[in-house]
Amino acid sequence: MKKETVVISKGYDPLKYNGAVKPPIFLTSTYKFKSAEEGESFIRVALGLDKGESGFVYSRFSNPNFDIVEERLSLLEGAEATAIFSSGMAAITSTLLAFVKNGDYIFYTNPVYGGTEFLFKEFFEKMGVSTIHVRAGSDTPRLMEDKISSLKAKLKGKSVILYIETPANPNNVMVDIEAIVKIRDKLLKEGISVKVIADNTFMGPIFQSPLEQKVDIVLYSATKFIGGHSDVISGAALGSKEDISKVKGIRGMIGTNGNPFDAWLMTRSLETIHIRMQRQMENAVKIADFLSRHPKVERVIYPELYDKKSEQYKIYKKQCKGPGSLLSFYIKGGKKEAFRFLNNVKLCKLAVSLGGTESLIEHPKAMTHSEVDKETLKDAEITDNMIRLSVGIENFEDIINDLKSALDKI
Ligand SMILES: Cc1ncc(COP(=O)(O)O)c(C=O)c1O
Repeated sequence: MKKETVVISKGYDPLKYNGAVKPPIFLTSTYKFKSAEEGESFIRVALGLDKGESGFVYSRFSNPNFDIVEERLSLLEGAEATAIFSSGMAAITSTLLAFVKNGDYIFYTNPVYGGTEFLFKEFFEKMGVSTIHVRAGSDTPRLMEDKISSLKAKLKGKSVILYIETPANPNNVMVDIEAIVKIRDKLLKEGISVKVIADNTFMGPIFQSPLEQKVDIVLYSATKFIGGHSDVISGAALGSKEDISKVKGIRGMIGTNGNPFDAWLMTRSLETIHIRMQRQMENAVKIADFLSRHPKVERVIYPELYDKKSEQYKIYKKQCKGPGSLLSFYIKGGKKEAFRFLNNVKLCKLAVSLGGTESLIEHPKAMTHSEVDKETLKDAEITDNMIRLSVGIENFEDIINDLKSALDKI
């Protein structure tokens, strides 16, 4: 079956549920065992104490609605296993907690989503994990290797995470996934325990598949394109059975699981992910072109507009199946002009988040990345005149007219 079909049909048999074509929502916190022996065995498997046949025990560990969406996401992405969470941040935190402890290292690309940066600095640093950032861009692999080499002696016996977010939020800069995977393979040969984790939220499962490039784990804020309607907060981690079972162990332990209704919403939304993301991308291409030619716009950062001779364009063509629907652009002027523009958009919603059916527009420096330090902002060119736009599925002419009339007000 093709992926468009799998996300509508796998993991659920209507005939087991009175013929209900859509899955019911399993609003139960706990599950009846057939026997005491079965209860004992299911619990040991759920806690990771034994391998064997798993079954439902308690909805902090699993639930039929989790299983359906997890199976469909795994098939869509070509992963052995998936774990869903109560948010993207829950997915990131639980995954990292499964692999790092005090004394370990996270090397990460800069910028990342502001909340992730905050998590690294305010949580992981404080628990004794060194979090070291490297500027995102075409030279990230070289810069990352340099940083790793300078710390080589300290890495023996430690766990190392190479954490990438590509394209980066909010500046759409890409990192060469294959080159980061090569760094991991070299370190593994030297006996260092290392994993590559990629946040694939910006391109979603349709336009980029980092598992095909052999990263260990892919993370999503499923709030974005997977949920797709700005009505659910959720997250996902995808990878090998072994890795995801460790991640699920942490999820069950600290309770970062989602709930059955959110899992049901994700299942509903996955059915349309291909057509939503395709339409959003087609709109974004036209809007990026319009903005790039507007006299009040300094420049637009969108993969299709990268300089065709640049390394960024080569990376884009190598690892992405399309340009996606997020664009960043710089208004001529400063914060005053950017805010005047934002205060005058009407159809596009002035709101954080992205990937919904509606177009969402925001000011990264004042909003999604407000907790990021000055140096990082400068490095990532997150400036007073930068705007991030997540293009929705509305008619593209209506979006362009909205942007045009707001630009006219500056
Ligand atoms: C790239 C990226 N990763 C992770 C997150 C966090 O996801 P959530 O808000 O679902 O916790 C976000 C949120 O905007 C994001 O943009």
